[in-house]
Amino acid sequence: MEGRLINPVSGLPDTKNAPEADSSVLRVWGGHSLRGHVKISGAKNSALVLMTGALLCSEDCRIRNVPRLADVERMAQVLSALGIKIHRNGETLDINAKDFTTSKAPYELVTQLRASFFAIGAILARLGVAQMPLPGGCAIGARPVDLHVRGLQAMGAEVQIEHGICNAHVPGSNRRLKGAKIYLDSPSVGATETLMMAATLADGETILDNAAREPEVVDLANFCNSMGAKITGAGTSTITILGVSKLHSTDYEVIPDRIEAGTFLTAAAITHSELLLSPVIPEHLLPVIAKLQEMGVNIVEEAPNCLRVMPAEVLKAADIQTLPHPGFPTDMQAQFMTLLALADGDSLINETVFENRLQHVAELKRMGANIRVKGNHAIVEGVPLLSGATVTATDLRASAALVLAGLAAQGKTTIQDLHHLDRGYDCLEAKMRNLGAKIERVRVNAEGETVYRYADEAVRV
Ligand code: EPZ
Repeated sequence: MEGRLINPVSGLPDTKNAPEADSSVLRVWGGHSLRGHVKISGAKNSALVLMTGALLCSEDCRIRNVPRLADVERMAQVLSALGIKIHRNGETLDINAKDFTTSKAPYELVTQLRASFFAIGAILARLGVAQMPLPGGCAIGARPVDLHVRGLQAMGAEVQIEHGICNAHVPGSNRRLKGAKIYLDSPSVGATETLMMAATLADGETILDNAAREPEVVDLANFCNSMGAKITGAGTSTITILGVSKLHSTDYEVIPDRIEAGTFLTAAAITHSELLLSPVIPEHLLPVIAKLQEMGVNIVEEAPNCLRVMPAEVLKAADIQTLPHPGFPTDMQAQFMTLLALADGDSLINETVFENRLQHVAELKRMGANIRVKGNHAIVEGVPLLSGATVTATDLRASAALVLAGLAAQGKTTIQDLHHLDRGYDCLEAKMRNLGAKIERVRVNAEGETVYRYADEAVRV
């Protein structure tokens, strides 16, 4: 779906020539403070995995508060390709996985959307067989799935990987996975989710040790339990799942997106603005709130699930080490680097989760940031100002970091390769514009002249 376009000549909506999303750019003019209230959308990293969790149930599942994202559209395409019935009505998804037409997920979709690999747990649990393309790496790292595979093998699945396809099946007449005690070498979010889903219908008890503790893992456990699963311990490092024979329908609401909320908190801090954000779940944001308060930003819980952020007199430097939850989230590292680039003093950032998640450094330096990279460490020396430039987004959270830089920079910033941003933010520029930011999405020709201007927001796939 494309945003409504205004033809600059006729001034009328022009949808027949809507440009591809990846040919548009964002223009941001810095120096405008923000004010007002921003509505936080449902969590991308929960909605996507709940969609795969719906495959565990052969009845109707309703998932509410689903954000309007390109990745959600892609996940819907993956489910449809498996023969699953899925219907979207605004922020509500109705899914019925009674009948699969195939256990083979489409290569071209899975390689674009890593989260679709997590469906292998649910497909194996339901059908006893699955052919899932390996998701492959992306800009931020190799993104292996060895922990997912080893866990499924511990539950009795036989897995062969050939020609980039993960072929899994459960031997035996009933083709049912068996409960197992599994220790995860690292608290992988995806592996925890894949194995938790697989275990809901397994024969016996599964214990996941060294499990991920992210809020999205807890949301998935609550979703599965709302369908009759028996999962305890989600949110701790040890999750126990007692397999059941069947799951029933549910009507479930996705939690608010803590990373979108963190991004808007950072936007307020970098523009020295006061904002209200809701809905948010403050305990999902503890490391982000604590770090902002260490930098001098004041954040209070205005009302239940509503935060008020107030600007700092001076943004103080602070060190950051990304860690699995409840540590500082890697998905907020790029946004904080932008903020620290304008702090008073030097900061050290250590990215411990992904091996290649510092690509936004080069683009921030083009805007005047003073950052040196040594391995997975970035030394950020605060500068008094950034200057607008034409920059290229390298991944989803780097895109958000460049938008924040544009909000604070002197002059105009043009951000290219917006397909990254559209994967994970629900109408970011509209939300920013509603808060007073000077930001627009346009398509420009080779000379940099505006060809089309998006007038409102829609999901761009
Ligand atoms: C989830 O990715 C999120 N994506 C990521 O969000 C997030 O950054 C990440 O968790 C960490 O919090 C979704 O939920 C869809 P991991 P996931 O498995 O599950 C290694 C965003 O911007 N690893 O916890 O893929 C892996 O290489 C995205 O919204 C293995 O070695 O992350 C990485 O170094 C980006 N073997 C580390 O673990 C495995 O089998 C953490 O990965 C699996 C992972």
